[in-house]
Amino acid sequence: RIAYVNGRFVPHGEAFVHIEDRGYQFADAVYEVWAVFDGRLADAEGHFARLERSLAELGIVMPMSRAALTLVLKETLRRNRIREGLLYLQVSRGVAPRDHAFPAEGVRPAVIVTASRVDRAAAEARAARGVGVVTTPENRWGRCDIKTVGLLPNVLAKQKAREAGAVEAWFVDELGLVTEGASSNAWIVDGDGVLRTRDTNANILRGVTRLSLMEVIREAGLKVEERPFTPEEARSAREAFITGAGTIVLPVVSVDGKPVGDGSPGPVASRLRRLYIERAK
Ligand code: PDD
Repeated sequence: RIAYVNGRFVPHGEAFVHIEDRGYQFADAVYEVWAVFDGRLADAEGHFARLERSLAELGIVMPMSRAALTLVLKETLRRNRIREGLLYLQVSRGVAPRDHAFPAEGVRPAVIVTASRVDRAAAEARAARGVGVVTTPENRWGRCDIKTVGLLPNVLAKQKAREAGAVEAWFVDELGLVTEGASSNAWIVDGDGVLRTRDTNANILRGVTRLSLMEVIREAGLKVEERPFTPEEARSAREAFITGAGTIVLPVVSVDGKPVGDGSPGPVASRLRRLYIERAK
């Protein structure tokens, strides 16, 4: 495997960043993940737009143009001979002697890119079975709209899910409403067949897959509402699913061990998954 580190392509096992990289010491870094279908980046522009926004919110300069970054991303795919997979990009504020406040001007952002292969047959088999989610109290900071690598609450939530034999954890706020997953957005199909997902004025990540799927949903002639739901509403819904670059559209068949609907993946989620992938190719 080959990784990109600050201007160089290096063997994955020798791809290191400095011990005083601020991403390492302070989680002072942002990231993006693209799904890759047949060698093409899904929602390329949407992820670039969010990257630029995350960087701007933290006062980190975009390390290179979109065009240059696109070349780096594609070259990383090419060198790894990957046509179905994921691209990971991380930009940290850079390397500087440890000090919480920003370093002096002139410190350049550190950029790394890795690519990993996805077994599409295995991914489709998982989507056909559906996955379980567990719920966990929302305990993250107030800027979940910024895609930072400060993911410890998400890490702990995901581990809780794994230990319960589930694939995702849904954060639940103090009002009992689902905010989002540890690495995905959360959706249901209610009793009237209307799709529902939380609005992005709440403290959640503006999922690129979520936004793109909104168009797919409208094109498919389905109705969608941006309104939150409780775990109980998810269980009594017709269907539930999650979206994200890593999961695409993935049916949820249980919440905290209790079935969603009849406990099997529903037709709406399965159809939207197919339509999204067709569009991305
Ligand atoms: N996660 N919410 C959170 C907290 C996320 O981390 C992600 C993505 C999403 C979905 O966003 P998008 O559709 O833009 O991928 C929602 C990536 C895949 C990850 O951390 O690996």
